[in-house]
Amino acid sequence: MQIRKKITIVGAGKVGSTVAQILAYKGLGDIVIVNRTAGKAQGIAMDLMQSSPVVEGFDAAVMGAGDYAETKESDVAIITAGLPRKEGMSRDQLLAANAGAVRDIAAQLARHSPGAAMVVVTNPLDVMVHVAWKASGFKASKVIGMAGVLDTARFRHFIAKELGVSPRLVSGMVLGGHGDLMLPLVDYAKVKGKPLTGLMPKEKIGRIVRRTVNAGAEIISLEGDSAYYAPASSVVQMVESILLDKKMILPCSAYLNGQYGIKGVFLGVPVRLGKNGVEKIIELKLTKEELTRLQDSARSVTEMVKKAGI
Ligand code: 2OP
Repeated sequence: MQIRKKITIVGAGKVGSTVAQILAYKGLGDIVIVNRTAGKAQGIAMDLMQSSPVVEGFDAAVMGAGDYAETKESDVAIITAGLPRKEGMSRDQLLAANAGAVRDIAAQLARHSPGAAMVVVTNPLDVMVHVAWKASGFKASKVIGMAGVLDTARFRHFIAKELGVSPRLVSGMVLGGHGDLMLPLVDYAKVKGKPLTGLMPKEKIGRIVRRTVNAGAEIISLEGDSAYYAPASSVVQMVESILLDKKMILPCSAYLNGQYGIKGVFLGVPVRLGKNGVEKIIELKLTKEELTRLQDSARSVTEMVKKAGI
């Protein structure tokens, strides 16, 4: 009888290995890291296990593999594998490179863990979630994209930094596709319950919105590599809500079937996330302009889905 939950992470890159480390420290489950080159996954798992006695320490088991046999009956499966952006690239330019890999991975995960919730991280995110959904044959509610939690974390951080307050006092929501058309909801942003619009001049808020949209590219331009700490932490927030059935309301790329006047596409919207995956899509009251921008974002993702021939 499985005591601890079981979590599979596909991709032993910086995001995948950081997700594994945070999950292990939080004791959210035993972890299987799958990578095309088994040695890389096995080496990272061994290194993580050798950290288990120190600092907070952990009891979870972390193992690495080059195939999916060990992943069977996972409760959550996370897809981080694929090429990350390089400087000057848009996330959409990763479509051709990553669609095939995500398709194969999702099919394998579904075969070994038909009851899992699937969290997709690979870019272009909203299209890759669609690819994983189709390839897995899962209900749409069990295939969820990680982007909104990351974009919202950045939005909250920039606001907190500007106001000199704890980021935990800042609430907010970034909706839409994980790209240039993402939509930080300024009117929903609050600091200790007080509307941001009453705490900061419009120009400063505008600068924070633009910096949030560009935050991924800013890190690549500085570090030469795609971000991984904030993405990994955002994945763990979602996995925790699923595994512990926390029913948190988080912005995730979820399948829309008419909500916000959008149908047939995965897009970043507020969802209630629990043991059954996306349990409810929350329809916020948006201004006409916000709704139009959200629908424009949906159209752009739909075009990419068509271009990918999904
Ligand atoms: C980012 O925004 C990797 O797409 C991710 O940093």
